[in-house]
Parts: sequence; C-alpha cells; structure tokens
Amino acid sequence: MICITIRRNTDTDLIMTIHGIPPDVLAALEHLLGQGGVAADAANMAKYLVDWSGDHHGAAVAVLKPASVAEVQAAVRLCDTLGLAMIPQGGNTGLVAGAIDIGTACGAVIISLERLNRIRVVDGDNFTLQADAGCILQHIKDRVEDQDCLFPLALGAQGSCQIGGNAASNAGGVNVLRYGMARDLIVGLEVVLPDGELWNGFSGLRKDNRGYDLKQLFIGAEGTLGIITGVEVKLFPKPGKVETAYLGLRSFEAAIALFRQARRGCSDLISAFEIIGAECMELARLVDPDTVTPVTAPVHVLIELSSSAAVDLRTLLVDFLASAMENELVADAVLAESGAQARAFWAIREGLVEGQAKRGYHVRTDLSVRISDIPTLIAQARDFVARDHPGWLSAAYGHAGDGNIHFSVLPPLDLAEPDARTTGAAITTGLYDITNALGGSISAEHGIGRTRSRVYWAGMSPVHRQLVTTLKDALDPNRLMNPGCLFPVTENLS
Ligand code: FAD
Ligand code: LAC
Ligand code: ZN
Repeated sequence: MICITIRRNTDTDLIMTIHGIPPDVLAALEHLLGQGGVAADAANMAKYLVDWSGDHHGAAVAVLKPASVAEVQAAVRLCDTLGLAMIPQGGNTGLVAGAIDIGTACGAVIISLERLNRIRVVDGDNFTLQADAGCILQHIKDRVEDQDCLFPLALGAQGSCQIGGNAASNAGGVNVLRYGMARDLIVGLEVVLPDGELWNGFSGLRKDNRGYDLKQLFIGAEGTLGIITGVEVKLFPKPGKVETAYLGLRSFEAAIALFRQARRGCSDLISAFEIIGAECMELARLVDPDTVTPVTAPVHVLIELSSSAAVDLRTLLVDFLASAMENELVADAVLAESGAQARAFWAIREGLVEGQAKRGYHVRTDLSVRISDIPTLIAQARDFVARDHPGWLSAAYGHAGDGNIHFSVLPPLDLAEPDARTTGAAITTGLYDITNALGGSISAEHGIGRTRSRVYWAGMSPVHRQLVTTLKDALDPNRLMNPGCLFPVTENLS
C-alpha cells in the first residue's frame, strides 16, 4: 500500500514523501464518509502525522474523519474488507506514539474521532455524563459546571485531548490521588469492534456485577482492540472550596514524609500532591520568562485541598502547614490568596512540561514505584545521569501522591539531535533498569504505544504474554487495529 510520510528535517522544515492512495479505495472511502470525511493529501494530513511533542513523525495512506457512529462502523467494515490497518486517533496528545505509525509498516489509515464530538447527556441527578469519544476533555469539564458538577480528570493536555483518547490510554493526571484514573471514572463505553460490529456497553449503572466487565478491556488498550465511539463517565459534586499552597522543602525525603502526614492531617480532602525538583523552574521559564518561583528550595510541592462541604479548609491547611514547619519538614510555604494565584502556581507545573518540549528532544519517562521509594528512585536516577552522562540535565517532577515520577533527561544544547537520540535511548534503558530493580513500572500513566512496545513485550512473563496475545487474537483476529502499538511489529506473536 502506498503511503504519505512526513518527517522532520530541521526544527522548521518537513520533508514529505507523497505517493497517494489508489483512486478506487479513495473513492470508496469518500463515498462512505463524504469528501470532508477523508484527507489523503499531504497538506491536509500533516497535523495528524506528528505528535504533540514534535518528536514523532508518522505515515498514513489517508486520514478518515467519520462524523457518526454509523460512519465509524462503515469505515471499519471497509478497512477490514480491504485489509487496511486502522490507527484510532483522538487529540493526538499521547506521549508514546500510540496514535501515529512511526514504524516502517506503511499502509494504515488514521481514524480521527474529532468530528464525533457531541456531549450526549448530562445527568446531574445521577451524576453521569455520556459523550461522543471525540469530545475535548476541557469541553466536558466546562459543561458539567452548569449542573454544579465536577468531572475530575485533569491534565495539562485537557484543552486538546479527547475523552475517547483518555479512556483508550487510561489517563491519569493531577487528581488521581482523590478520584482515580480514567478507568475508575468510566461507567460505560460504546465501541466499534475491528469487524465493524457495535458493542453498546452503556447502562448508566454504577454497580453491575454480571460477569466480565468488558469495558475494562478497552480502557487502556490504546486502540488495539476497537474504536471507542462513546464514553459514559461519573460526575462528582463541584467542590465549592479549594485551597492551594506552594511549598519549599529541603529534600524529596521530606516531601514524602510530608505527604504521609498530609494524608492523615488533612483527612481525605487532598486532591493533589505534586512534587517538582527546583531544576524544573528553568524549563517553566522557557514558556514564560516572567515565571516567579513562589519559594526558593531544592524541592517544591504543590498541594491542593478541596471540598464541596462547608469545611474550613483554610484553617485545616494553615494548621497542618504550621505544624509541618515547626517539625522542619517544610521550609517555606505560600498559600494562594485567590483563584488567580492558584492558577499561577499550576501554570508553573504545566509550563515546565511545555518547556521541555520547547527545548527539543529529551528523554521523557513516567515511572512508578511505591511512594516510599520515590526518594531512592530520584537519587539513583540522578546519580546515574551525572555519572554516565555528564552534561545532560535531570529534571524530576510528578504525581508523588500516586508514586508516579516523570524523570526527564535533557541533552546538552550543543549536542546534535541524532546523537542525542542515540544517547537518549541508552539513558532510557538505564532509567528503566533502576525502576525495575525497585519493583516499579516503566509506565505509570502514559501507556506503551509504539515507543515502549519492545521493552514492554520483553519484560512479560510467558503466561502474561499468552493472555495478552489470546485477547488480541480473539477480538482482532486480522490484526488490523493499531498494529505496532503495544505489540511490537517485528515480534513473532503467534
Ligand atoms: P491520542 O494521543 O490521540 O491517542 C492515545 C492512544 O489512544 C493511541 O493509542 C490511540 O490509538 C488511542 N485512541 C485515541 N482515541 C481513541 C478512541 N476513540 N478509540 C480507541 N483508541 C483511541 N497523560 C496522563 O495520563 N496524565 C497526565 O498528567 C498527562 N499530562 C499531559 C500533559 C501534556 C502537556 C501532554 C501533551 C500530554 C499529557 N498526557 C498525560 C498524555 C495524554 O494527554 C493522555 O494520554 C491523553 O489521555 C491522550 O488523549 P488523546 O485524545 O490525545 O489521545
Ligand atoms: C504530566 C504529564 C507529562 O504529569 O503526565 O505533566
Ligand atoms: Zn503525569
């Protein structure tokens, strides 16, 4: 099959290798989806073939944009008949190349859900919402506020990522500590299976113990078992009160000790507990040079308490922090005096992620260990980088309350990108080795995608591998659904 490849030459230039799609196939697709439903030329496909970070550039024979569930079914049926591989794509904010083909396997279509973007039902009485998979997460969050509700999934990409992508990648974010990951927030799914059949898994029921919980198969499957077309989620009462503080601490050990105390001292009212190494501040300043760090300390903590009840959160937080300062756990603390100041604190946290992408290629990880092992993980990772790769910059931050650390390593600015990528691969392996030795996970929230498929596959026990393969073969016997994602292309899977 003929494909279009877009690959980066310099930071600004794209080289496009344009072949095309057989006219009869294109005509059949346009017949099903209308002309606005198919893009097969380089200009119109470009934005679907590069990921958010700009690190990965992909290939596809066409981008399909169905505008209804029936159109998704029709497109999938046709692809199945033609033997065309399908890559579901949401907001394309995933960080592991799950939604674009970066392998050599040319010949897939991308199926973008962006036109399937209707919020179907907001049911404030039952605290549920049903939406098309292509709804932008931020739109859902804004919409439920009308009914005094909260949809608590919160991540830096929420202005672009889609609820279907959140379900497919089992997204986490900054409020997992209180509300859980996407998996915990989903009540039902609607999925088009690889042969075009529709599975309607909506029931509105919060408890339903009839046999296998099939929706969980598709959550976190990264589009390898079917295309999610609809999602039903749990809503929560909107917290009327939110208190946010930005803290300075002497060490990551102190941060973890503080978290342990905060869990009890602030009751179950903590909704976020993020840690940020001070070295990340220069990354945040790449996005906003005027960023003012609220504290001066080696380790920063962003703590948020929230409640929908008439609880005096301010006093609770002030008293807790006063005692933590007396015990010398916290060196410095700034409480947000307004919503705007709280947003400014969060802008630092979001800015440092954007700043890394702006700086260029870097090693990006999302590791998890037991919460108590976080200081050891960070210390070992920093030592490894300083010892084996001097000149590279370590940057540690993450969702400490979930045991999830994003340990990034940024190359010296004068190192050519191809060399940086080669060394970066070795650094990634070193970081995974450290994590594995601590009994941790190499993917706490971003998933496996294509960038981690080999290491994921290599790390499985034979029984685990057999179970995963059995599931894949049962649901996608023709192996057309997102090939290369989770399952490495070169692996003999049978
Ligand atoms: P995409 O990137 O388009 O796709 C992701 C995967 O899901 C792919 O494998 C794709 O094939 C599959 N997929 C997408 N839509 C469907 C569908 N409808 N049916 C079946 N499969 C589908 N992630 C976190 O977990 N926590 C964070 O805190 C976080 N912060 C981020 C901050 C920034 C700035 C960025 C850029 C990303 C961040 N991410 C985070 C990663 C990313 O935003 C999430 O993984 C998000 O859930 C992906 O959604 P998406 O719609 O962009 O999916
Ligand atoms: C975050 C993303 C990178 O936590 O997961 O900002
Ligand atoms: Zn994260």
